[in-house]
Amino acid sequence: MKSEVVPIRMVNEDTFFIEMIDQKELPQNEIWVACKTVEDVADAIRSMVVRGAPAIGIAAAYGVLFAIRDHGKESFDKYARLLGQTRPTAVNLFWAIDRMKTVVEDYEGRDLAGRLKVEADLIFEEDRENNLRMGDQAQSLFTKPSNILTHCNTGGLATGGFGTALGIIRAVHHAGNLKKVWVDETRPYLQGARLTAWECMKDDIPSTLITDNMAGYFMQKGEVDAVIVGTDRVAANGDVANKIGTYSLAVLCKFHNIPFYVAAPVSTIDPNTPTGKEIVIEQRSSEEVTHVSGKSIAPEGVKVSHPAFDVTPGNLVTAIITEDGIFTSPYAF
Ligand code: MRU
Repeated sequence: MKSEVVPIRMVNEDTFFIEMIDQKELPQNEIWVACKTVEDVADAIRSMVVRGAPAIGIAAAYGVLFAIRDHGKESFDKYARLLGQTRPTAVNLFWAIDRMKTVVEDYEGRDLAGRLKVEADLIFEEDRENNLRMGDQAQSLFTKPSNILTHCNTGGLATGGFGTALGIIRAVHHAGNLKKVWVDETRPYLQGARLTAWECMKDDIPSTLITDNMAGYFMQKGEVDAVIVGTDRVAANGDVANKIGTYSLAVLCKFHNIPFYVAAPVSTIDPNTPTGKEIVIEQRSSEEVTHVSGKSIAPEGVKVSHPAFDVTPGNLVTAIITEDGIFTSPYAF
């Protein structure tokens, strides 16, 4: 059974718009937020109503459609800038905006908005298809029942459906080769505890939630057979930016001789960024560190640092699993 958790749904009233499930509210509340304008979409990405690199790209594609429909094709640069400033690390955001730009520039018919809707829908559908293919590709890596650890949320919520790293875990489960998934809670934003645990329970995927600092404990006990994570950007040399805490996992895997896999659609590979050093790391608010569920857990006024992502060198990555195949070091994209 394939999961149908998706972050975005269509509303075809007089004027077409989208709704996004508010991922800040999950798992307690399932609230769908209407996004009718490009500004609504930009706000939703910035505030993390929608998150996860592929889902951010899909949302941005609809944002471009709304911008051109409502303000004309001359407004493209202005609104591409607005969308591009929301979250800098996820390359899928820029990839999707560029793909929509090509349509804006090349289309010669009379219904540009209609054509842009087709393109945004395609970006959405293709992402889900790619995730299913990624799940198939990965089967050769999981031929016996395994305990797999994952970080952050890379499931249906973070993509056009099914998921990247969590999609592979789902596929391994469907093939009967998943003992269980260790779900890292993913401090500070808790995407693992709130979103991955929710998706796993919804789909009866055997899962156990742990805090991030327990990963080493279970590796030392021999209870982790592999780690699979997603990524926001793969540099041309195979360095991988992903949710803060990913690099620590890769180093732990190296020490314990555990395979460390990265799952990514080809749209997350950025040949224009030579190495991880050039990847812009988003810095988020200190409040996301000092507060949990709106409650302060640190002394008022304490200095805080909050990089939202880190970079794992390609030589710590056992393989990068894409819809088009499995790549191993030395990487050259
Ligand atoms: O800050 P987030 O929740 O957008 O970060 C998400 C991640 O780090 C994911 O691992 C990545 O975007 C891949 S999602 C398929």
